[in-house]
Amino acid sequence: MSLGDIFPLVNPILTKLNIQEQDSQHNLRTNQKKSQKNGLMIKKTFAKFCSFAGQMFLFKKSVNFVWMKRLSTDTTSPILMKNNTDNWIQLAGHPEIFAPASSVTVWKRRLAKDSNEYETYLRLQNDKMHSLVPQFYQQIEYNGQYFIEIENLLKHFHDPNIMDIKLGTRTFLESEVKNQTLRTDLYNKMILIDPNAPNTEERKQKALTKLRYMQFREQQSSSAQLGFRIDAIRMSGEFPNSNLQKIQNKDQIYSVLKSFLNSHKEVSHALCQRLKEMCKLFESSIFFKTHEFIGSSLLIIYDEFGQSGIWLIDFSKTFAVPDHIQINHRSKWQLGNYEDGFLTGMDNLIKIWNEVADSILH
Ligand SMILES: Nc1ncnc2c1ncn2[C@@H]1O[C@H](COP(=O)(O)OP(=O)(O)O)[C@@H](O)[C@H]1O
Ligand SMILES: [Mg+2]
Repeated sequence: MSLGDIFPLVNPILTKLNIQEQDSQHNLRTNQKKSQKNGLMIKKTFAKFCSFAGQMFLFKKSVNFVWMKRLSTDTTSPILMKNNTDNWIQLAGHPEIFAPASSVTVWKRRLAKDSNEYETYLRLQNDKMHSLVPQFYQQIEYNGQYFIEIENLLKHFHDPNIMDIKLGTRTFLESEVKNQTLRTDLYNKMILIDPNAPNTEERKQKALTKLRYMQFREQQSSSAQLGFRIDAIRMSGEFPNSNLQKIQNKDQIYSVLKSFLNSHKEVSHALCQRLKEMCKLFESSIFFKTHEFIGSSLLIIYDEFGQSGIWLIDFSKTFAVPDHIQINHRSKWQLGNYEDGFLTGMDNLIKIWNEVADSILH
C-alpha cells in the first residue's frame, strides 16, 4: 500500500489526529501506537535494544517515540531535529517548525492564524502547477497546533546538494507596507548584516519596521536587481550555509552556482531544463495568474548518483489578487498593482544557469 492510499490526497476536512485509529503501515503512526501500548517499556528497554548488534531499526523507533512524547507536551522539535538528521536537512526558514513525520513526509507547523499554506496546497491539486510542488497529504491538528503533512523531497536523494532560492523582486506583502510596528529584532538583524545600514532615527530607536528591513534585504541581495536570491546552500557532507545575504550581482551568483554544480555537466543541463519547464507551467497556470507569490522558494536538489530535481516550496504568503487586478509577475511593483517579480527572477536565473551549465566542460 502506498502513502497515497493511506492518506487521502485531498482532505478538505480538517483531520483530528487519532493515533489509535491510524493505519499501522505508516511509520509515524506505528511508532505512536507502539509507544501508547508499550510506553515506558520501550524507554526502559532502550539501552538493552542498543546493545544488540543489528538493532538499529529498533533504535530508530525509540527515537521517534521520544519525539512523539515531546511533541505532545510542548510541541518544540529540537529533539526531533537532533534525532532524525539522517532524513532531514533544513536550509532556510523559521527554526523549529518542521517535524519529519516518517521517512517520506514532513509536518510543517502553521505560524499564522490563517491556513493559507494549507489552502494553497489544496487548490494546487487541481492546477497545472501541482507537479511543481511537494505532494500534499493532509492537514493535521495536534494538541491545538496545526500542521500540514507534505512530501519530504529529500526522500529521492542520498546525502544531497541543496540550494534554496527565494523568488521575486518583492519579498513582503502589500499588507505589510502599512504595518508601522517598530521591531528591535529586525534592527538587530540589520546591524549584523551591515552595522552602517540604520539611519539616525533607527539608530536612536534601535528598531525599524518590517517593510524597511525587507527592502534593505532586497537591496543587499540580488532580489531587487535580479528577482531572486540564494538564501542557503548545503553541499554534500557539509552543514548548510545561510550566510549569503550579500551575494548581490550576477558575477557573484555565477560563481556560487558554478561551485554548487561542481562540474556536474549532465545534472546542470537537466536542472536547467527543469527550470525552463517550470517557467512554462507557471505561465500556463490559472492559479499562478491569479495569485501573488511572496517568499516562495525553489528547492534545488541533486546527489552524486545523478538524481536531480527542483520544486517550488513555501506558500505561507501566497494570496489571491483582487478580481479586478491582472498580474504578469514581470512588471515593476508599485503599491496596489500586486506584481511580485517572480517570473523576472525565473528569467534571470535561467539565463545565468544556462551560462554556468555551458561553461562546464566535462
Ligand atoms: N517538502 C520539503 N522537503 C524537503 N525539505 C523541505 C521541504 N519544505 C521545506 N524544506 C526545507 O525547509 C526549509 C524552509 O522551508 P520553508 O517552507 O521555506 O519554511 P518557512 O515558511 O519557515 O520559510 C527549506 O529551505 C528546505 O531546506
Ligand atoms: Mg521560506
